[in-house]
Amino acid sequence: MSTILITHIKQLVNVREQNNLLCGAALAELPVIDDAFILIEDGIIAQYGHMYELELLVPQLPNLVIEAQDQFVLPAWCDSHTHIVFAKTREEEFIDKIKGVSYAEIAAKGGGILNSAAKLNALTEDELFISAWQRLEAVSLLGTGAIEIKSGYGLTVEGELKMLRVIKKLKEKSKLTIKSTFLGAHTYPIAYKEDHEGYINLIINDMLPVIAAEKLADYIDVFCETGFFSANEMETICRAGMSYGLKPKVHVNQLNSIGGIQSAIKLNALSVDHLETMTDDDVKLLGKIGTSHQLNPSGSNATIATLLPTAAFFLRMPYQPARQLIDAGTAIALATDFNPGSSPSGNMNFVIALSCIQMKMLPEEAINAATINGAYAMELEKALGSITIGKKANLIFTKPMPSLAYFPYSFGTNMIDKVMIDGMFI
Ligand code: NIG
Ligand code: FE
Repeated sequence: MSTILITHIKQLVNVREQNNLLCGAALAELPVIDDAFILIEDGIIAQYGHMYELELLVPQLPNLVIEAQDQFVLPAWCDSHTHIVFAKTREEEFIDKIKGVSYAEIAAKGGGILNSAAKLNALTEDELFISAWQRLEAVSLLGTGAIEIKSGYGLTVEGELKMLRVIKKLKEKSKLTIKSTFLGAHTYPIAYKEDHEGYINLIINDMLPVIAAEKLADYIDVFCETGFFSANEMETICRAGMSYGLKPKVHVNQLNSIGGIQSAIKLNALSVDHLETMTDDDVKLLGKIGTSHQLNPSGSNATIATLLPTAAFFLRMPYQPARQLIDAGTAIALATDFNPGSSPSGNMNFVIALSCIQMKMLPEEAINAATINGAYAMELEKALGSITIGKKANLIFTKPMPSLAYFPYSFGTNMIDKVMIDGMFI
């Protein structure tokens, strides 16, 4: 058995005996232990506590003891929304946007998602795997220990299956915990621009049965926006996915509020993601779901609001109304949306800083949203997202810092010293 003891940790962060999805005010409660130790056995958290309890809780010290003086130790980030399998970056559009062209105009001209799809369909599975693997390695060094990855740049039967097979291979080869989401309904491909029913039938009859047979996806996603998929179309596609056991986890309210949240809640979606454009009713509805879950956690699951502030930052859009959502009682998760069009970065540390600086989330709220609630948004809460006995030792060791708030405060500065995945430093 491999055993590692970490001692004299300045602060052990997000220590929880019990798993709870954090809604509303509960997001601000971040349990910590000062001057702490943590014991890891075979990659699993076996014990933790105050240094003064060490002798009592760990009577026999292991061979490997590491001192973490002045360091904070946190659960690794759980990034519950990304598109890291893609063929090429899109700097041309970045320049167009600087010159004043909008994201929607770029998409309407055949840029955007269609541009990425054309490039992706020209590459082999192996080529796509290599670049996605490099992105995965890069984000793990930035503290990400679990990640959700979507398809959606294929938009053909072959292209979507190719992407999902790449994700499956990443799952098999990577030490990170990965969840896979089928996003065939990312946009209408050119051939189906005037034939929505035809493309929806292709998704339902030609893509989903193979995806289910080869177990290529955990979730189903739809981009529900004006000019993309309507709320009704989203419902049809999600119900088809649900018939194969894929829970909805959907893109809604990025550019418009067209009933996507209402439909997603009706479908009992695991999460609604983006939420830059929200009406008061949208906020109230998500708050109501969170509040009733908080009052009766064993009742039905609450749909999680996954905020993607770097997408708003990169597209110069208004930020998600995090404060209103939290005050209404919503369960919030934070994710990067790493993709070549709207968020070409997978840096969760910047997501956390931006959430505090621009969305007025407290550091405690942001850290909870990026760890335990992110784990819930991938149904990984039993294995990840907090310092809990029996969970995986996926941990972030910070550089010396005066306080936890220093982490988002010093935005853009790499405060990570080391990352541990499955009990091993990477
Ligand atoms: O989540 N908005 C839809 N999908 C992605 C961006 C896709 C792209 O521009 O390539 C997102 O922001
Ligand atoms: Fe996205």
